[in-house]
Amino acid sequence: MQSVLSDFDLVLFGGTGDLAMRKLLPALYRRLAAGQLSQRSRVIGVARGELSQDDYLAQVRATCEKYIGKEFDAKIWDQYAKQLAYAKVDAQSDSDFNKLAEVLRGCDEKVRVFFLSTAPDLFANICEGLARHSLVTPTSRVVLEKPLGEDRASSALINERVGAMFSEKQIFRIDHYLGKETVQNLLALRFGNLLFEPLWRRGYIQHVQITVAEDLGVERRAGFYDQTGALRDMVQNHLLQLLCIIAMEPPATSDPDAMRDEKLKVLRALRPLTGRDVLAKTVRGQYKAGAANGAPVVGYLQEKDVPAESTTETFVALKAEIESWRWAGVPFYLRTGKRLQERVSEIVITFADLPHSIYERPDSAHAVNRLIIRLQPDESITLSVLAKSPGEGMRLKPVDLSLDFADAFKAPSLDAYERLLTDVVKGNLTLFMRRDELDAAWQWIDPIREAWLQYDEQPKTYTAGSWGPAAASSLIGRDGFQWRNEL
Ligand code: BG6
Repeated sequence: MQSVLSDFDLVLFGGTGDLAMRKLLPALYRRLAAGQLSQRSRVIGVARGELSQDDYLAQVRATCEKYIGKEFDAKIWDQYAKQLAYAKVDAQSDSDFNKLAEVLRGCDEKVRVFFLSTAPDLFANICEGLARHSLVTPTSRVVLEKPLGEDRASSALINERVGAMFSEKQIFRIDHYLGKETVQNLLALRFGNLLFEPLWRRGYIQHVQITVAEDLGVERRAGFYDQTGALRDMVQNHLLQLLCIIAMEPPATSDPDAMRDEKLKVLRALRPLTGRDVLAKTVRGQYKAGAANGAPVVGYLQEKDVPAESTTETFVALKAEIESWRWAGVPFYLRTGKRLQERVSEIVITFADLPHSIYERPDSAHAVNRLIIRLQPDESITLSVLAKSPGEGMRLKPVDLSLDFADAFKAPSLDAYERLLTDVVKGNLTLFMRRDELDAAWQWIDPIREAWLQYDEQPKTYTAGSWGPAAASSLIGRDGFQWRNEL
């Protein structure tokens, strides 16, 4: 049983939005059900619409019932409802901020969390409004949801303005991938065991693949997605963060800054991709009509609210290289896309081949050891090793040593947002991005987009339900490797 959190007021801007309804409000319900929320803690949903308290509660109840499913309990809901409130706040309206101040009056000693689940161009205005109305207390924290800007310059501007109201230690930049249980397990695997560390480097690791594949399409977010594209929606944050966790040096302590310093070094050691090199080492794709889960689906250009001539990418594959003693010469292939064959996020570490073999072995792609860290679904770690095939003779075949987390621990793991929200209340910054990290990530990403624009690199189409454009296979194939699903 987790300990009860300090009393808090969590003010959720974007409180009627998709993320709040799908993830944040159900996550807080679960923490209440787990006994972690004191009765004095409150969640104050904030949005621009005029909504009565009852209407808001009805919306939140419906979403909790939907996402919590059969574990939804009316008694727990009754308690949650007592701790939920709604306030209408338009970031431009002083009188609205005054009303919010009323709601928060007399609660200055509590932990106060402002969670901004809004468009990023509102972040600074909201923070300035909060400061103008003296709502930022020493115990306040602000949580910023991605995307934090659309490039390095806009992100710097947001950070600058938010930084004028909140100190860096009060700013929690969310990347929900860092809250996933298996990402934490990756840290445990690397820094809680000696086993892999001597091999975790060039010479022993041949290459690394990071795949975050989704079977969903753009859903109802076309307005946002078409302006963003897969590079900025997924690679700039989630995939680069995963790469950092694989590639970072062991930090000296578990202190948030010790961890973040090491991740920053990885981002800064990424070989810049610029100019024509971008065309050789990246693949942009866009899905066309195909199938998902056995049913026909439309292509990206036919999705609601997507302009018919859109050239936004829904798929990216790229080759990243880290210029360091540990990683020189070890390619990291990153791949993400919508409407791919299945929903799977995994990291595949392929170890080097034997220098010399005395036994009969399978072909070289199957003869190497692989460590497969699956983030979702079915969180697991699998190590493929070669073993003797039963019967006469010494013929080797790959077999898997598997660790299935659900099976091993027989305990449900926390949803990423449950973990991250409790970390915010506790003030633990380890799983949040620091400003310099974010800046370094944009610094690496911006030239890729610039080169795509400069050379008018159009996305290559792929059929919905496939594994992306053929060019993604060639990207890795040119180096003599294959994506794991192609083996
Ligand atoms: C979000 C992206 O950050 O991550 C979405 O904006 C994407 O486009 C989502 O669908 C994927 O998250 P998860 O946890 O479902 O893998």
